[in-house]
Amino acid sequence: MDRRSFLTNMSAASLASITGATTLTAKADALEEAMSAELDKRIAMPWACGIEGTPDPIPGDTRPWYQHEDPRLPKMPEAPTLIDFFKMRFAPANHILQSARLAKNNGLDEKIIMACLLHDISVENLVRTDHGYWCAQMIAPYVDEEIAWAIEKHQALRFFADESVGYEYPEAYIRFFGADYEPEPYIVKAYEEAKNHKWYMSSRLITLNDLYSFEEGVEVDVDDFTDIIGRNFKQPKEGLGFDGSPVAHMWRSIIWPNNFL
Ligand SMILES: [Fe+2]
Ligand SMILES: [Fe+2]
Repeated sequence: MDRRSFLTNMSAASLASITGATTLTAKADALEEAMSAELDKRIAMPWACGIEGTPDPIPGDTRPWYQHEDPRLPKMPEAPTLIDFFKMRFAPANHILQSARLAKNNGLDEKIIMACLLHDISVENLVRTDHGYWCAQMIAPYVDEEIAWAIEKHQALRFFADESVGYEYPEAYIRFFGADYEPEPYIVKAYEEAKNHKWYMSSRLITLNDLYSFEEGVEVDVDDFTDIIGRNFKQPKEGLGFDGSPVAHMWRSIIWPNNFL
C-alpha cells in the first residue's frame, strides 16, 4: 500500500482512532489496523471506483479533489463527438485504432471495422471488468445492433479457439490467468449461444483483428476513420453524455473521470 496516499485519504474514523491512542505502541497498532481495513476495502473496490485526488496538483490550486472540470485534462466541447473522445480522452488508443486499421487492411466490411474501433473503448477509460458488456452498452444507442452484439460477445469468444478461421486461445492468457484457468459458466454460456448465432462471425472477426501487441512504428490517426464513423455512428446532436440516453452517464464519467461523486 502507498503509505502517503493512505495517510492523505484515510477516513475520519481511522484518523480519530490513531490520534486518540495515548501511547506510541497504541498509535502504531491503530495505524496497522486502519491500513489492514483499508487494504480489504481496496481489494473489493472495482477498478472504476479508484479515483484519485490530486497527488500532482496544479500549482496554486489547493482543492483536494478536482470536481467537474479537471485542469489536468483538455476541456471537452459542449457537445462532444466520438472523435472528440478519441482525441481528448482515449488517446493514444493504440490498441483499438490498430485493430480497426487491421480490419480495414483486411478488406472487411465497415460494420466490422467500426466494431474493431469500438470493441475495447471502456478498457482504458471507464471499466475493464466485463468490458465487452460495458463497451457494447456504451455504444448501443448509436450503432447498428449487429455491431453492439458483436462487441458484447467478443468478451466470451476471446476465450475459445476457432480453428476454422485460425483463432487460437491467446497465449497471453496462459501467462495472465494460469494454464488451468477456465472461463466462468456465464462466459461459457454466452459463447455457446453466440456460436450458433447469425452474427457469430462478426464477433469472431473482432477477436481475429484484436491485436495483443502493437505493430512497431505504426501510428494510426482516428481521422482515418472519419468517413466510416460518419456512416456507422449516429452522433447525437446534443453530444455524447448530454443526449438523455440510458448510457449518457457513462460518457459523462469519461468527460469528468475524477468527479468525487
Ligand atoms: Fe476486448
Ligand atoms: Fe481488444
